[in-house]
Order: sequence, then structure tokens, then C-alpha cells
Amino acid sequence: KQQQRQPLIEAHQEAAQLYHHILMNTKLGEAARNYLQERQVSPEMIERFNLGFAPGEQVLRSFFAERKTDYQTLRKTGLFIEDQAGNLKDRFTNRLMFPIKNTTGALVGFSGRLLHKSDSAPKYLNSPETEIFNKRRVLYNYDVARQAARKAKRLLLLEGFMDVISASQAGIDFGVASMGTSLTEEQIYDLQRVSSNIDICYDGDVPGQKAIDRAVSLLEQNGNFQIGVIQIPDGMDPDEYRRKNGTAGLQKIVKSGREPVIKFRLRYLRSHFNFEQETDKIEYAKQATKLIATLDSSVERGVYLKDLATDLDFDQTSLQEQCEEDRRKQR
Ligand code: UTP
Ligand code: MN
Ligand code: MN
Ligand code: MN
Ligand code: MN
Repeated sequence: KQQQRQPLIEAHQEAAQLYHHILMNTKLGEAARNYLQERQVSPEMIERFNLGFAPGEQVLRSFFAERKTDYQTLRKTGLFIEDQAGNLKDRFTNRLMFPIKNTTGALVGFSGRLLHKSDSAPKYLNSPETEIFNKRRVLYNYDVARQAARKAKRLLLLEGFMDVISASQAGIDFGVASMGTSLTEEQIYDLQRVSSNIDICYDGDVPGQKAIDRAVSLLEQNGNFQIGVIQIPDGMDPDEYRRKNGTAGLQKIVKSGREPVIKFRLRYLRSHFNFEQETDKIEYAKQATKLIATLDSSVERGVYLKDLATDLDFDQTSLQEQCEEDRRKQR
């Protein structure tokens, strides 16, 4: 098995080197270089994450043809699209390339980003499933983050590659991202091995909130973590937040912006109700007390019930009674 994997990994290393060379040293890479500069990605990060560029030409095909790389190996890399006659064409064209390592640090796939918005193609294109690339297992930056997380005693779960890179540029190396999909059991297992203290810092937009809610549930169900949520304001993602507030701004929110899951849950729940409607307020009150009832500490329950009463302008005693009743039912 290992023997079959090695040539595929080597082909990825060669492809990554070629894409990186094109980005850094050629005319073909100029637009991508400018793009990265506009996005304020530092040269250090371009090197650290070994970013590259796949131009419009069939660069990989020619490169591997010259090196006389075995056809069956090339097919299995997933780096090509095969036509009916078995001819191989570069899968990634006109894309900024992010090499992807597996949890043991071997280069097993790519994600490629279009430099400009397109209606016909996805923003990010990922490697297909291959003998070496399993999307369910990948956590971007895991090999670096596992070292950093042991020191920092915490992990940061981000949504996108650019968020991981942005965090790293701000000196936060314990960030990882899944491949834009919701967390899998395999990924949670690998996270748990590194730290039981994890903060979710997904995008501040509506899909991001939904994804946080999902991730919290998955982490609670499949692991044993202390979970925090770092809410990025104004619908921004962590990378946008850095560009607006500087690396110091991102450092600050990651350092001290952690809130307990209950706070996120209550806010997320609240966003589904319209407080102009009395029926909505009552329904929110009922569901919120149920959430608060799950807290084991009566001090904490008291704090959130007080906030809830103020927010709703409802009598705190009745909310408290409701909460006690919910607790009896939950037991
Ligand atoms: P986002 O849409 O939030 O993109 O998707 P982003 O990470 O902020 O990227 P930029 O800043 O526009 O470059 C979050 C993640 O979802 C996955 C990618 O992993 C991305 O980083 N994704 C997104 C895809 O796999 N395919 C897509 O077409 C879009
Ligand atoms: Mn270089
Ligand atoms: Mn997003
Ligand atoms: Mn984003
Ligand atoms: Mn982004």
C-alpha cells in the first residue's frame, strides 16, 4: 500500500514545486502575484504554505511527459481529467493553488481558487478522492497546528484556507480548517488527539452561523472538548477581519473574544425570531429557557436567565420557574 502511495505523493510534490515556481518567477504568475499582494498575503506566508499558480496552459501534462512519469501513476494522482480516449488534461487551470497535506504531513492534494468570480465554475476546486486524498480526513495546516496547539493549549477551527493563512500571518499557528464541509468523525478524532480545548471561529455571515451551530453539535456528540466560539462581527470572516483591523485586531479577538457555547446558542436562536411579535417573544423565551436549563451551574443559569428577562422585558421569576421545570424534564 505504502509503495503505491509514494509515487502519488512524489507527483504532488513535483506539481507543487512547479506551481510555486510559476507563481513566483514567471510572467504567467503575475496576475496571481498581484492578487496575493492585494489580499495582503505576505511573502513569508506564500512560502510557508507553498502557494502556487496553475496557469491556463497544460503545464502539468507537459512537465510529466518530459519526465516520462508512468501513465498509470499520473491517472491516479487526480491531478488530471481523463477524456474518453484516455488522454489526460490538467484538472487545475487558472487557479491559485493551495497544496494540501494529510495529518501526517504528506502532500496529498490541492485546492485551487479562481482569481476572479465566475458563474460557471466553483470558487475553489478540490482534488478528487484518490488513494491518497480523503477529504473526510484532511485538516488544512494540521501538521503545523498540532505542534502550536500543544504549546498554546488550544486549537482554533476556521472555515477557509485563507483564514488559516491569515491567522498564521498574525502569529496564530494553531488554526486548522476542514475542506469547506462540515466536520467528520475522523477529523474530530484527529482534533481530539491534539487538544481538548477548541474554539470555533467560522465566518460571521449567516451560513457561518449555521456552520458553527452544526460544528458545536458534532464536537459535543463525537468528542470530549471544552468548546468556545469566537464571533467575527459584521458578517466578516477572520481573513477579512484581519485586513480591516490588522494582525493586532485578529490577535486580540482570538486571544480574548472567546465566548461560551451557550451565549452563541442563545444569540443564534434569537436570530430566528422577530421580537415585534409577542408570540415570537414567547416562543423564544420557551426555547431559550430549555437551553439555559442544560447548564449544570445554577449561578450560570441565573446569569443567563437575568439577561433573558431583560432582553425580553419579561418577569424573571416565571422564566426561572420555567427553567426549573425544563430541568426536571431533561433529567
Ligand atoms: P468561503 O466562501 O467562506 O471562502 O468558503 P473563503 O475561505 O472566505 O475564501 P476567499 O476568502 O473568498 O478566498 C470557505 C471554504 O469552503 C470551501 C473552501 O475550503 C473555502 O476555504 N469552498 C468554498 C469550496 O470547497 N468550494 C467553493 O466553491 C467555495
Ligand atoms: Mn519559494
Ligand atoms: Mn464562508
Ligand atoms: Mn470565508
Ligand atoms: Mn474569505
